[in-house]
Amino acid sequence: MTKVREIYYCSICGNLIEILSEGAPALVCCDQPMELVEAKTEDATTEKHVPYVQAIGNDTKVTIGENAAHPMTDEHFIKFIEIRTADKVGRAELKPGDDPEAIFHIKKDEIIEAYEYCNVHGLWKD
Ligand SMILES: [Fe+2]
Repeated sequence: MTKVREIYYCSICGNLIEILSEGAPALVCCDQPMELVEAKTEDATTEKHVPYVQAIGNDTKVTIGENAAHPMTDEHFIKFIEIRTADKVGRAELKPGDDPEAIFHIKKDEIIEAYEYCNVHGLWKD
């Protein structure tokens, strides 16, 4: 069974999907099974990818990464930043030229996990 909030990827066309309701694990794209994307948590690359989560009053700011901003060029950029609470998902969609950060109108204490997806280096979580 697929699980709610799992993310799957097609290595042929680049489709990226998130599960909203559980079902049979038979996701097919471009005539082949889609791959479950596992989030990385430890960064061995020179660019920093692990989301940095900060409280800003009653809001929460997520920056990629903590000490140096991740590139946001046409070739290499953060596609989205996502926060997850017990019963909510919030996602900011980014594009080249944007700052690699997002502000969510939700208290940091409610956030269980923060994710980001880099078009070159894949999925990361804090
Ligand atoms: Fe990257």
